[in-house]
Amino acid sequence: MDEDSRDERYELVIVSNRLPVDRVAGDDGEASWRPSPGGLVAALEPVMRQEDGVWIGWAGVADEVIEPFEADGISLIPVPLSEQEIEEYYEGFSNDTLWPLYHDVIAPPSYHREWWDAYLRVNRRFADAAARASAPGAVVWVHDYQLQLVPALLREARPDLVIGFFNHIPFPPYGIYSQLPWRRQIIDGLLGADVIGFQRVADAGNFSRAVRRLKGFETRGPIIEVPIESDDPASGSHRHVTSNKHGGLVRTVLARQFPISIDTQKYQDLASRPEIQERARQIREDLGNPKTIMLGVDRLDYTKGIGHRLKAFGELLAEDKISVDDVTLVQVASPSRERVETYRLLRDEIELTVGRINGDYSSISHTAIAYLHHGYPREEMVALYLAADVMLVTALRDGMNLVAKEYVASRVDEDGVLVLSEFAGASDELRQALLINPHDIEGLKEAMLAAIAMPRRERARRMRALRKRVITNDVARWSASFLDALTRSAHGDHPLQNP
Ligand code: G6P
Repeated sequence: MDEDSRDERYELVIVSNRLPVDRVAGDDGEASWRPSPGGLVAALEPVMRQEDGVWIGWAGVADEVIEPFEADGISLIPVPLSEQEIEEYYEGFSNDTLWPLYHDVIAPPSYHREWWDAYLRVNRRFADAAARASAPGAVVWVHDYQLQLVPALLREARPDLVIGFFNHIPFPPYGIYSQLPWRRQIIDGLLGADVIGFQRVADAGNFSRAVRRLKGFETRGPIIEVPIESDDPASGSHRHVTSNKHGGLVRTVLARQFPISIDTQKYQDLASRPEIQERARQIREDLGNPKTIMLGVDRLDYTKGIGHRLKAFGELLAEDKISVDDVTLVQVASPSRERVETYRLLRDEIELTVGRINGDYSSISHTAIAYLHHGYPREEMVALYLAADVMLVTALRDGMNLVAKEYVASRVDEDGVLVLSEFAGASDELRQALLINPHDIEGLKEAMLAAIAMPRRERARRMRALRKRVITNDVARWSASFLDALTRSAHGDHPLQNP
């Protein structure tokens, strides 16, 4: 990498905690790259393939300074994190403070002042990297809860930039959010953006309410009026500055929902490939050709309601409503945040439950639950989706849940039943799924039985309607509508109406 390319400036800059690839050290000491986990990367990768920009993020390893490089045609700029920053900023503040707080305190959040200091320090580093990589007037799109301070830090350094922020996870109701000792700093950080995107209408509403309560700023529908001081660098750029009804100078910020999606066509293409369909048949056979295969696919996270799903499944077996000869549950639980205590405890709990159910109900020829603690390539996931008669998404709280959309996109045969938690953002759009409240175990059991017994015609009717949604609202549409709102805001035009 020579000096010139290191100093390259881009018109579109994506900033997220993770890069789309993680660096891994092999047994032979050789470093290689593998796809990163999670929905954020899955959604942004196709966007970056279309656009000529750069992606700034962490490569998943400690204490390594890695030069900018290209992976699969995407330009990447790695941001280094030290071992201590991984503990305090990533595992600590991001995943043991913000993650549980923003997911309805399903697990108790921990508040530590050193973690906050590390969060601020690392957010500064990301903002500096973005400021360096951005051409004059460039569009910078910052992602997710790990980087909420970046918009304001970036605006301060580079008032010429057009800054967008998208929150991939829920934004909690004020009664929960207000626990956060740094609640004002986070709001100030986010308000540095021109457009702030959320998954659901409710998330955007929760954010606006927090802004009103904590800052006293006025909001008009999705528009937030941020008063500016005359010495504010933004006051020089007339881009966002107008006067409010009291005659004061304000910057306007748009905060509204932009529900994220998937590369639907890619899933349809994979699902149409003969070798993947053959693999789906093989999976069925390997499981002993049960009448019904149920499937759960999640990062091993306490927000996903895996325990609730297992409980319902175990009770159906105990009550003889289903038998292992007829029904198998395949649970893919991909490893996640394994050094965070809550995740360690969750893994023990889930594996104990799986072991108990299998011990109690499996026979020599049929295993009740095929439990897989791995991540799989997309091809294998699509084969699993095709093999699964019933998909179980039982999240207790989830920003969107892209697995639900992947399942629907993969069912080119217009078959399969989606059981979907109303606490996942996807339930706003996927209304023809069997919608459930995962806390209501009886209701969940009834939905599982209804899914097993659903006649082919009804399955097809529901799946057709679900597919229509996911085909129309794909990830390209999501990013286009966000970037369109962002460019319009650069011209002082905040559309009030929904796209
Ligand atoms: C969710 C978050 C992402 C995160 C992903 C994987 O999808 O919204 O920001 O990257 O989980 O989690 P991890 O901690 O491994 O990055």
